[in-house]
Amino acid sequence: MRIPQHIAIIMDGNGRWAKARGLNRSMGHQEGVEAVRRITTACSNMGVKYLTLYTFSTENWNRPAPEVAALMQLILEAMEEEIFMKNNVRMRVIGDLSRVPENVLASIRHCEQRTSTNTGMTMVIALSYSSKWEITEAVRQIAREAAEGTRTIESIDETTIDRHLATSFMPDPDLLIRTGGELRLSNYLLWQLAYAEFYFTDTLWPDFDEPHLQAAIEEYNNRERRYGKTSEQVAE
Ligand code: IPE
Ligand code: IPE
Ligand code: MG
Repeated sequence: MRIPQHIAIIMDGNGRWAKARGLNRSMGHQEGVEAVRRITTACSNMGVKYLTLYTFSTENWNRPAPEVAALMQLILEAMEEEIFMKNNVRMRVIGDLSRVPENVLASIRHCEQRTSTNTGMTMVIALSYSSKWEITEAVRQIAREAAEGTRTIESIDETTIDRHLATSFMPDPDLLIRTGGELRLSNYLLWQLAYAEFYFTDTLWPDFDEPHLQAAIEEYNNRERRYGKTSEQVAE
C-alpha cells in the first residue's frame, strides 16, 4: 500500500456524537481528543510524514461562548509534551493566533519549541484557521513586498504564493478525510487541496479509529492521480 505523505483531516461530528448519547457537546469534543491521539499514533506508525488537523475554524469563534471556552480548555489540556515526545512527533500550529487566549497560545508555543527537533511525523494543528484568512494574509504580504520594491509584480508565481502561506513548510496534502457526513470543505486548505484525493465518511470523529483510517488509505490506493494527463500517460 502507498502511504500518503500528507493527510489532512476535517474532524467533524463531535457534537452529534454527544447529542446521540444525551450528553453535552463538550463531551463530544473530549472524546474527539481521544480520536486525535489514536489517529496521530496510527499515522506516525504507518510512516505518514505530515498530518494536518482542522481543530478550530475562524468561523467556530461564532459558536456559543461556553462551547468555545470548553474547546480552548481541551486544546490546552491536549498539549501534552510526553505524547508528542513518545511518538517523536513534531507539533506545529497554523491559524490566526491573535484571537487565541494567552494561556492556550503559551502552551502551544511551548510544545512547538520542545518538539521542534523531533524527527518523526509533523502534526499540524489548524487553530483559528481558515483558508480565506490565510490567502488574504499571503496577498497582503506579497503586496507589501511589491510596494516596498523588494519584488516585482512579474516575479509573482505559484511558488511565491506557496511560500507565503502558513503551510509553506510542507508539501500539499495527498489525501483529505472529512468525518461526520458533510460534503464540504468549510474553508479548509482551499489552495493546498487543489490535487488532493477526497474521502468523505459518515463516521463521526469520536468513532474514527485505525480501521477507518486504513479504509481511507485503501480507497486512496484505488485512485488514479492523473494531474490532467491521460490514463495511458500515467501508466507509462
Ligand atoms: C467538530 O465537531 C469539532 C469542531 C468544529 C470544533 P462539531 O462540533 O462541528 O460537531 P457537529 O458537526 O456539531 O456534530
Ligand atoms: C469544520 O467543522 C471545522 C472543524 C472541524 C474544526 P464545522 O462543523 O465548523 O463545519 P460547518 O460549519 O458544518 O461547515
Ligand atoms: Mg460540525
